[in-house]
Amino acid sequence: MANILLRDQEIADIGTYDVYVQHGGYEGLKKALSMSPKEVIALVKESNLRGRGGAGFSAGMKWSFVPEVEGPKYVVVNADESEPGTFKDRQILEKNTQQLIEGALICAYAIQASAIYIYVRGEFWDIGFNIEREVEKARAGGWVGEKIGGADWGCEIYVHWGAGAYICGEESAMLNSIEGKLGQPRVRPPFPAVAGLYARPTVINNVETLANVPPIIVNGAAWYKSIGTEKSPGPKIFCMSGHIAKPGNYELPLGSTFRQLIELAGGVRDGKQLKAILPSGASGPLLPATDKVLDTPLTYEDVAALGSTLGSASVIILDEDTDMVWAALKMIKFFRHESCGKCTPCREGTYWLEQRLSAIYHKTATKADVALIESVAVQMQGKSLCALGDFATSPVLSALKYWRDEFYAYVEPAKPVPATKAPARKPAAEAAAVAGD
Ligand SMILES: Cc1cc2nc3c(=O)[nH]c(=O)nc-3n(C[C@H](O)[C@H](O)[C@H](O)COP(=O)(O)O)c2cc1C
Repeated sequence: MANILLRDQEIADIGTYDVYVQHGGYEGLKKALSMSPKEVIALVKESNLRGRGGAGFSAGMKWSFVPEVEGPKYVVVNADESEPGTFKDRQILEKNTQQLIEGALICAYAIQASAIYIYVRGEFWDIGFNIEREVEKARAGGWVGEKIGGADWGCEIYVHWGAGAYICGEESAMLNSIEGKLGQPRVRPPFPAVAGLYARPTVINNVETLANVPPIIVNGAAWYKSIGTEKSPGPKIFCMSGHIAKPGNYELPLGSTFRQLIELAGGVRDGKQLKAILPSGASGPLLPATDKVLDTPLTYEDVAALGSTLGSASVIILDEDTDMVWAALKMIKFFRHESCGKCTPCREGTYWLEQRLSAIYHKTATKADVALIESVAVQMQGKSLCALGDFATSPVLSALKYWRDEFYAYVEPAKPVPATKAPARKPAAEAAAVAGD
């Protein structure tokens, strides 16, 4: 089946306005404008499109929470993409730019927003300028500005660059960042749908979520639900990285398995055995490479049932040589560095996790430290203003769940090696006879 999101793999320059229009671009927005905003929301709800930024929340449902009030409303496109191992939005932004712009405009029409803010991570410098260029081409085509497509509705699009902070991918921190405030999460409620950007009703959606919208409007909800599974429909981009032969983005229907995905990406690098999988970058729990895991359908609910999360589907492959204490420490270092410091459990918890895990890794800790990091992680769960605090517990708790012995091996005093006598060497002829030569 042709790609729905990674269309650049089949059509050169699909991200540019003219080529996009030649291939059916803006038919979705045209159709949406012939419908009422409520009908557009109902169609997206019916398609059961689930948010691709991590939580898998129904996009149509989120749009329906926006109250029908007078005054400005906003759409914020989450293009922060900072999760380790995630690089799918980047490909859409670079190579299928117009589909994202069209999807964001359909969302804006559905909630009657007057402006769209595309928040790109600081490192997406050139990508941001590319979006701005494409926005101007869409404007020349009549799709941005006043009276869009002849309708009595207008919308502006602004690109906003972050400064390269993981926390600004969290939706309420992102709103603060756009407002020029410190990028730290807000206390909720109120939720963004009611009081978001500049305290006005706001929808925040991930890039990939919005790129799904134009084909849904054109082809309908039944078509969309024929891809993937009943509860997790549609195509998904899986980012493959780590010890994999062919790292990169792969578009597959939701419900495909880890086994299929790994095969597609050329298998484990250098013919090694698979040891573990991180299904959602650093923020979701590690899974061991069992047959049950490998054959699990990649849907939001099936991966959750395994005790992990599909998240943004940034699949990091770890081979048999991976030291799980090292891997957990590497991830904790990331979360300690990125914790914004606003709430105590996350700020202090990530500090102590890094401190004691580092001691374990450097063999200056005791068995009590293994129990200590577990206790710290358990106490952090569900205590922070945003999910970063919970994400940070995943590498520790999941590594301990499946590979506890590896932690103990670092803290147990080395057993004295019994003195052994070197085996007597056999005469060459006798040795060859034993070997069957
Ligand atoms: C620490 C943290 C970082 C996040 N980073 C991103 C990100 O880079 N991109 C993204 O789309 N969502 C990110 N999210 C999720 C957003 O808060 C939000 O759920 C998402 O943008 C909603 O869009 P969706 O419903 O289309 O998935 C992050 C969440 C947390 C807690």
